[in-house]
Amino acid sequence: MKKILITGGAGFIGSHVVRRFVTSHPDYHIFNLDALTYAGNLENLRDVENAPNYTFVKGDIVDAAFIEKLFTEHNFYGVVHLAAESHVDRSISDPMSFVMTNVVGTVNLLNSAKSAWKEDLQNHRFYHVSTDEVYGELHDPGTFFLETTKYDPRSPYSASKASSDHFVRAYHNTYKLPVVISNCSNNYGPNHFPEKLIPLMIHNIIQKKPLPVYGKGENIRDWLFVEDHARAIDVIFHDGANGETYNIGGHNEWKNIDLVMLLCSIMDKKLGREEGETAQLITYVTDRAGHDLRYAIDATKLSNELGWKPSLQFAEGLEKTVDWYLNNQEWLNNVTSGTYQKYYDGMYSER
Ligand code: NAD
Ligand code: DAU
Repeated sequence: MKKILITGGAGFIGSHVVRRFVTSHPDYHIFNLDALTYAGNLENLRDVENAPNYTFVKGDIVDAAFIEKLFTEHNFYGVVHLAAESHVDRSISDPMSFVMTNVVGTVNLLNSAKSAWKEDLQNHRFYHVSTDEVYGELHDPGTFFLETTKYDPRSPYSASKASSDHFVRAYHNTYKLPVVISNCSNNYGPNHFPEKLIPLMIHNIIQKKPLPVYGKGENIRDWLFVEDHARAIDVIFHDGANGETYNIGGHNEWKNIDLVMLLCSIMDKKLGREEGETAQLITYVTDRAGHDLRYAIDATKLSNELGWKPSLQFAEGLEKTVDWYLNNQEWLNNVTSGTYQKYYDGMYSER
């Protein structure tokens, strides 16, 4: 059985990737390495936690000695690296934790993979999951981020992800480490931590709390359903070319205010409120510092070379997402109250 290390598997996207790999690839043994920061939640993986080909490992990628030991103990065939600090607003108030996890943590993994795989490098794969934010912001409608777009990160988060991407490419060029990178647009779907726009709005709508829209709500994001991202990662992990980069996106651009209005209208219907009632909760608040105006991905390379396309229309994906949150209010309440973290105490011992 090939051993695959997935980092950050208790987080939003990571949990969907772990589920997909555990269920679609019974010939792999999946090791989910996660530090269980505020963003990691093992509740996300209840349905697969007892699978015979799944093991959870609690640990921090910043801890070089621990990572080295893990690679020595297990002869990993491949790594799918998602562990990261992922929220732009947090990066503005605490940039250093982004440097530590996103940059130092990634370099620790690269170093351990390089030394563990040195005898047969070509039989391994290091997959680094990155973001479209490394390309900066777009202004003109009809322009898109390509794999060749110059890097221009503008927040501490995107600067840390850009830096990690550069290290991954440097290890490929210098040490011939077999790597692949993908840069994806905004994800949405079940298990999304409610500090991010869509789950925050859903949570506040349910609670009848103000809906904080940054600035004038004119910033644009390109939204992709999280299971489509997990499927893209699966395809790229298996069929992507060594050393290559693939952009992943939804071709689904929304102005923030239009998206929030749509959510309000969907939820008015679902919650039996009068049309327009929820939209009254919209509150324009101080803009995010350095707020990128627009992101939009051109995913032609991935679609032409590896045959991937998004499967869900936004209306369907959003409906599924809203239903998931309405049916999992305990998850939402546990996350927002912080009680879910107590759940870990004593359940998993430190390695
Ligand atoms: P998330 O914040 O939901 O999850 C991150 C996970 O990493 C958590 O489980 C957390 O406990 C774990 N983690 C954090 N620091 C760690 C450390 N030092 N050691 C081990 N584990 C640690 O993030 P997400 O939104 O699921 O994003 C996953 C990856 O995908 C990130 O690399 C992010 O940059 C990238 N990405 C995210 C999006 C998006 O829209 N969310 C889009 C494109 C790319
Ligand atoms: O583009 C990919 C990136 O998408 C990922 O790399 C990041 O990890 C992920 O967090 C996401 O970054 P954004 O900053 O785009 O996502 P966020 O949900 O924080 O914000 C989406 C938009 O909504 C953005 O323009 C800011 C705005 N916003 C956000 C929040 C939380 C609001 O207007 N109000 C809010 O309360």
